[in-house]
Amino acid sequence: MADDERVGQAAFPQGGAGAGPGGRRDFLATAGSVAMATSLAASYGTLAVLAGRFLYPAGSSPAAWMFLADMAGMKPGDSFLYRTPAGASVAVARVGTRGDAGDFLALSSTCPHLGCQVHWEPHNNRFFCPCHNGTFDPTGKATSGPPAAAGQSLPRYPLKAEKGLLYILVPVGAVS
Ligand code: FES
Repeated sequence: MADDERVGQAAFPQGGAGAGPGGRRDFLATAGSVAMATSLAASYGTLAVLAGRFLYPAGSSPAAWMFLADMAGMKPGDSFLYRTPAGASVAVARVGTRGDAGDFLALSSTCPHLGCQVHWEPHNNRFFCPCHNGTFDPTGKATSGPPAAAGQSLPRYPLKAEKGLLYILVPVGAVS
């Protein structure tokens, strides 16, 4: 028992356990306050980050122009699927013959109804979702099926052409 008391006094030499300034009680109170302040700061920090993501969802993800295709290698009606660095799936189709970026469409290939993959139908000039017969015009606006009933659309990606090559502007951060 005496050994335990010596250990306690050695740890708190200015007045013994629980008594006076610098005592065990003061130490525990200070440690508790520091822990509480740290916990509150972490909570408010997390809240601020979540609020920022809610208020500025698009601004939090950097975007970059990525090579997409050699324009001469696609003829009108051709299409393919492109996967962005962040993992999103994009349906790319050639619909014109002018020789600029306006000849091409690049829309999310993920149906906004339940997430099936849409594909370009050149003979119908539309994107089609086989899961529930959802259809979308070349701008991505739903024209029939459940997506049209819900007023949904396929997000469109910006394109640009440089020296015969086609580029797409996509988010490069992780999909959250
Ligand atoms: S998942 Fe595309 S129409 Fe239902």
